[in-house]
Amino acid sequence: MDTKPGVVMIGLGYIGLPTAALIAQNKTYVHGVDINPKVVETVNNGKIHIIEPELDQAVENAVKGGYLKASVTPVEADTYLIVVPTPFKGKNEPDISFVESATKGIIPLLKEGDLYIIESTSPIGTTEKMLNLIYGERPELKDKLYVAYCPERVLPGNVMYELVHNDRVIGGVDQKSTDKAADFYRQFIKGDLHKTNARTAEMCKLVENSSRDVQIAFANELSLICDKADINVWELIQLANKHPRVNILQPGCGVGGHCIAVDPYFIVADYPMESQIIGKAREINNYKSFWCAEKVKNAKLEFELKNGKKPRIALMGLAFKPNIDDLRESPAKYIAQKVLQNANNEEYYIVEPNIESHNIFKLTDYAEAAEKADIVVFLVAHDEFKGLNIPENKVVLDFCGVLN
Ligand SMILES: NC(=O)c1ccc[n+]([C@@H]2O[C@H](COP(=O)([O-])OP(=O)(O)OC[C@H]3O[C@@H](n4cnc5c(N)ncnc54)[C@H](O)[C@@H]3O)[C@@H](O)[C@H]2O)c1
Repeated sequence: MDTKPGVVMIGLGYIGLPTAALIAQNKTYVHGVDINPKVVETVNNGKIHIIEPELDQAVENAVKGGYLKASVTPVEADTYLIVVPTPFKGKNEPDISFVESATKGIIPLLKEGDLYIIESTSPIGTTEKMLNLIYGERPELKDKLYVAYCPERVLPGNVMYELVHNDRVIGGVDQKSTDKAADFYRQFIKGDLHKTNARTAEMCKLVENSSRDVQIAFANELSLICDKADINVWELIQLANKHPRVNILQPGCGVGGHCIAVDPYFIVADYPMESQIIGKAREINNYKSFWCAEKVKNAKLEFELKNGKKPRIALMGLAFKPNIDDLRESPAKYIAQKVLQNANNEEYYIVEPNIESHNIFKLTDYAEAAEKADIVVFLVAHDEFKGLNIPENKVVLDFCGVLN
């Protein structure tokens, strides 16, 4: 690329790469940076390293058109976007070291008037911390940069559409930063842009996912109560939701994925005394997975006592939610692991129709597993499972309501 890039995108993963491709589609030169040389090589070949509909074409066009180039090192630009991971360290403590190191990498390149935006899901105060880090090393730039936070809220599988059409919350460290960041996003986003400050924008992302987590925890708690009270929780929720102002979510075998099961801890870690419900919801949703694994164990023992032989057990689904191939933080995977840890010569069929193979689990076709098993455990409500006709002589544990 001979032309000077307008944007440096740091982190070319599930969020950074689609965003880079979108900006490039808009005929802005993007210099993508990733510490993983394989990612850089793949992108420079016009290919993608993640599964996301329509992304392959967008990246191919952007690279062919000369609007997107990847490298392991950043270059000078006018706008810098930080879209690197923010995982845990220790016991559910957010780890912002990736954001820090990405920021340190561009500090020498910054100049007056540049725009610096963090999109990574971050604990409250991260943007201010990075601001202090930058001004600590480059005091001459104080008040001469635009610094903002803008969280991402796309749904994997529909990223290319949602990137453009979702509303965005944009919070600068001051009003001029907020305005500048909003002007930047307005070039390629059709959704509404909601202006606020950096701390509120950071909290907003965490609250969106915590809200889902708390509501799912309520449904999961109901499922535990109903199991003891001999009430069908699916019917109960359907009936309760007939109330015009009640909308209870569906229970499941826990909560997974890299957002809802993770982000609430970013609040709890910093505000443990104040975040009682948020913390408890995490506990309930984690407990639900443990409870499901115990239920399988008990069903196994009961079968053996009753039939005098070891059961064949089908574990249906490993993904963290229906109809996807993503196993990150998946409660179904956790349950399968826990059940297999307690295996005692039973035969197991592990099923995940959305992936071809797994490095730990030997996978079985879903129809074959359901047919051969004595105990069929539904962990994820994949569409494939909905049409299954399970004979009455089999033990069925439906933790996700796929048969309801
Ligand atoms: N994936 C989602 O659906 C989603 C949705 C909303 C928010 N987020 C948030 O967005 C952020 C990024 O998530 P993701 O799913 O894109 O992560 P990802 O793991 O898919 O990609 C991150 C990329 O950053 C690279 N990287 C790490 N440190 C780097 C550094 N110092 N310099 C350059 N590259 C570096 C990694 O090699 C990786 O390719 C996270 O904070 C996540 O919580 C993700």
